Amino acid sequence: MYPSPQPEAASHATPDEFRAALSQLASGVSLVTVHDPEDGEDVGMTATSFLSVSLEPPLVLISVREDSRMDEVLSRADTWAVSLLSEEQKALGSRFAMKGRLSDRLLFADAPHHRGPHSGAPLIDGALATVECRTEQRIAAGDHTLLLGRVLEALVPDPGGRPLLYFRGGYRTLG
Ligand SMILES: Cc1cc2nc3c(=O)[nH]c(=O)nc-3n(C[C@H](O)[C@H](O)[C@H](O)COP(=O)(O)O)c2cc1C
Repeated sequence: MYPSPQPEAASHATPDEFRAALSQLASGVSLVTVHDPEDGEDVGMTATSFLSVSLEPPLVLISVREDSRMDEVLSRADTWAVSLLSEEQKALGSRFAMKGRLSDRLLFADAPHHRGPHSGAPLIDGALATVECRTEQRIAAGDHTLLLGRVLEALVPDPGGRPLLYFRGGYRTLG
């Protein structure tokens, strides 16, 4: 018998232990993008939290830090997109994750893209796959917001491409 989980159970993992354990998970690297309906700017963020949830209906999930600009814009835009980066796009992964980074306008000027017909969000050229979504549900989760997205379109522009991965704190390739 396992003890039943307690709603207020204290964690036995320190933040460092939690980080160290989760750094052993190899993840694909994506750019989450959105077109801000308020000021017309495009906003983008590097993410490893992208996850497939359901096939019928097609649903995906992203987890976004609660106090970030991305979370703020996603709270007023109903549609957004995810571009799965290829191993040639490490520089994009790094630049869209930088703290105190360049303005999004400059970042996108250096990131060849086209506009998703269903989401209005930038889709990154050369990505392994692009997925356009409409927010189905926003769920508060600790210091992050989970966005459950209904898939509007999913494309594989480069079926032969190889993925960019993140593992043990660094970018990797399949090697
Ligand atoms: C490999 C990698 C994966 C990341 N994944 C996420 C993620 O899933 N969700 C998230 O909110 N931030 C994630 N981040 C952090 C954001 O990319 C970064 O904090 C953000 O772009 C900077 O925005 P800020 O200026 O609002 O802090 C990740 C960073 C890296 C390097």
